[in-house]
Amino acid sequence: MAPILQRHDMAMSAIAAYDGGMRDIETILVLTGAGISAESGLATFRGPDGLWEGHRVEEICTPQALARNPALVQNFYDMRRAALARVVPNAAHHALARLDAEWPGELLIVTQNVDDLHERAGARRMLHMHGELKSALCRECGGRVRWEGTLADGPACPLCGGKGGLRPDIVFFGEMPYQMERIEEALAGADLFVSIGTSGAVYPAAGFVQTARYHGAQTLELNLDPSAGSHFFHESRVGPAGLLVPEWVGDMLGDRVTDAG
Ligand code: OAD
Repeated sequence: MAPILQRHDMAMSAIAAYDGGMRDIETILVLTGAGISAESGLATFRGPDGLWEGHRVEEICTPQALARNPALVQNFYDMRRAALARVVPNAAHHALARLDAEWPGELLIVTQNVDDLHERAGARRMLHMHGELKSALCRECGGRVRWEGTLADGPACPLCGGKGGLRPDIVFFGEMPYQMERIEEALAGADLFVSIGTSGAVYPAAGFVQTARYHGAQTLELNLDPSAGSHFFHESRVGPAGLLVPEWVGDMLGDRVTDAG
């Protein structure tokens, strides 16, 4: 037990140095976006061609698109769900899972991603604000069920037996993200807000940095390019998540202090 306590004490002093001693950091809120999964081989939403796997996001991610062309939308998400079997978590997911396991204070990882790479890396203190590929939502009974297979073939809902009512459990444009109350609470209580691999193009997540700052948090961005809201952060580090996230987590957990000692 003693070495663990010592390790955390050292972590705390490293953190105090990081935030300039303005406020001790105990409570961390991490926001992740598609960029954290890019090095695992999953396409981001707004690539250089502005397309997501050949489609404009709005063509696929709206309730109107689902009503207009259910086969296109259901097949698209069936393919994304199947693709999860061909990818694995990368160094950034593993580093956040390590932070989750070892950080002695409060931590919440809020992901906009619908893949399951955070949890496959071992993260537990996390939530999916935009839904999950491996979940289906029943339009008849409103239930959410774990889902591994396809939806385009109109399977019956295991909860109510309704046929053809299941859709991807994904928050489409115009729909309310999940667990906003819990997220707002975490933003208000965070000492440090860290945004990883997100373009800052989609609200409400794009506004989290301002809310966290308003409540007095230190704010840090880790992204391949400066995001749309980069100027709102106290600090922006530019580079691949697979490099920046393990480095940052190592600093938080006192690796450098430990190495020097
Ligand atoms: P975007 O595709 O908009 O942005 C991805 C960000 O990750 C960009 O700023 C890239 O520069 C950055 N990036 C790419 N590769 C990276 C790497 N290896 N390391 C670090 N950063 C990297 O994705 P999101 O911001 O997540 O919503 O998009 C937000 C929401 O828009 C998504 O959750 C999705 C979409 O509509 C829903 O599906 C509901």
